[in-house]
Amino acid sequence: MLPETLKEITERVNLYALGVLAPPRYEHSLRVAILSREMAERYSVDPVAAYLAGIAHDMCKSSRERWLLAMALKDGLPIQEVEEQKPSLLHGRAAAVLLQSDFAVEDDSILDAVRHHTFGAADMDSLGKIVFVADKIEPGRTGLDPDWLRRVHEQSLDGMTRMVLEHNIGYLDSRGKSVSPVTRAMLASLQGGKRLR
Ligand SMILES: [Fe+2]
Ligand SMILES: [Fe+2]
Repeated sequence: MLPETLKEITERVNLYALGVLAPPRYEHSLRVAILSREMAERYSVDPVAAYLAGIAHDMCKSSRERWLLAMALKDGLPIQEVEEQKPSLLHGRAAAVLLQSDFAVEDDSILDAVRHHTFGAADMDSLGKIVFVADKIEPGRTGLDPDWLRRVHEQSLDGMTRMVLEHNIGYLDSRGKSVSPVTRAMLASLQGGKRLR
């Protein structure tokens, strides 16, 4: 039997997400997939891989916390303090494990983009940045300043990622919420080592 193509895997993941997610969450995933594909075309990344990572990124968002924790532990990474406090934040890591075990995705770039879409990672590749950014600025996201959004879309991929990170960290800081050290490290890496604080 021939190995499945990425398009065939995408169809299976799409059906899975459609089956398990509530309609608003599925529709968000679809918008992230479409925007990721558009950005991939713009920044010379495989658009099929970008669509797959987008449609998969939140497929475990409705899963139970104990299952998320058990799945996430399989990737061998430590559980961060913020993840321990709020296990729902592990849905990206769980989705990457599921993509590999049940959907035969072996491409590390796709798996890492899904795994790190919530907090980011200091050494993210272009696909990872695309999914991270698309998740935060897809057209269904409310409350984003249109001028800010227009400026984001005018940037290079690193510029977009930096603006989205600054926006997210600023929002969390202003509400007194904890920011993952990984997210701060990602911003610092895009600012050329200059830390925010
Ligand atoms: Fe998510
Ligand atoms: Fe999302």
